[in-house]
Amino acid sequence: MLKLPLPKGLAAVAPSILSADQLNLGLAVQKAAQGGADWLHIDIMDGHFVPNLSFGPATVACIDKTAALAQDVHLMVERPADFTGPFTKAGASSLTLHIESEGDLKQLLAQIRQSGLAAGLSIKPDTAPAEILPYIDLLDLVLVMTVYPGFGGQGFLQNGAAQIAGVRDIIKKSGRQIWLEVDGGINEETAAAAARAGADAFVAGNAVFNAPDTALAIARIRRAAANF
Ligand code: DX5
Ligand code: ZN
Repeated sequence: MLKLPLPKGLAAVAPSILSADQLNLGLAVQKAAQGGADWLHIDIMDGHFVPNLSFGPATVACIDKTAALAQDVHLMVERPADFTGPFTKAGASSLTLHIESEGDLKQLLAQIRQSGLAAGLSIKPDTAPAEILPYIDLLDLVLVMTVYPGFGGQGFLQNGAAQIAGVRDIIKKSGRQIWLEVDGGINEETAAAAARAGADAFVAGNAVFNAPDTALAIARIRRAAANF
């Protein structure tokens, strides 16, 4: 398991393999790593929390063997308690739960950190940033969804920047080192808007894996995030 670094004032780019050619995942991982990605974003869906299915712990275990990139695992599942153990064992670097999911999230976040992983909490587009307040001391990462979760290739929602700014304010007031990651509809333009609002980690599926040149696509997002 590779460690997710602490935020250092630099933008992190995390390509989402949901948009990669599923018959050539190994190649996608290699291209992302060689193209300068910081983390690999792995979307986990259970068909209940979101109306779609994606990967499982076996995928994460295979990617872990390549040791190419830290794996930023986004759990879009109704019952995260069923999955944190298997994904920890598989080699995830971070586990991000949804605040809208079921179970004792505080206990799960504490367990994730005790296992040496970064702990994240995600909010859907209609969830108020203030909802993360009770969890703030347990977090290494907050993931702001800027599309309704479930599918890649959607457009950045209009309230995205306001959601990010709200979370940034809470993180600032907490005085803690927490990544603020944005996920959904990120491309060069929206990455700049998200960075302006306070994001410092950028998930991108479609904009990276459906671009002709993976390295160039990653570099463009990084540049937009740095020079907004
Ligand atoms: C959506 C996923 C995203 C998705 C982003 O539910 O959480 O990570 O892969 O894809 P793009 O960048 O295409 O919006
Ligand atoms: Zn995601």
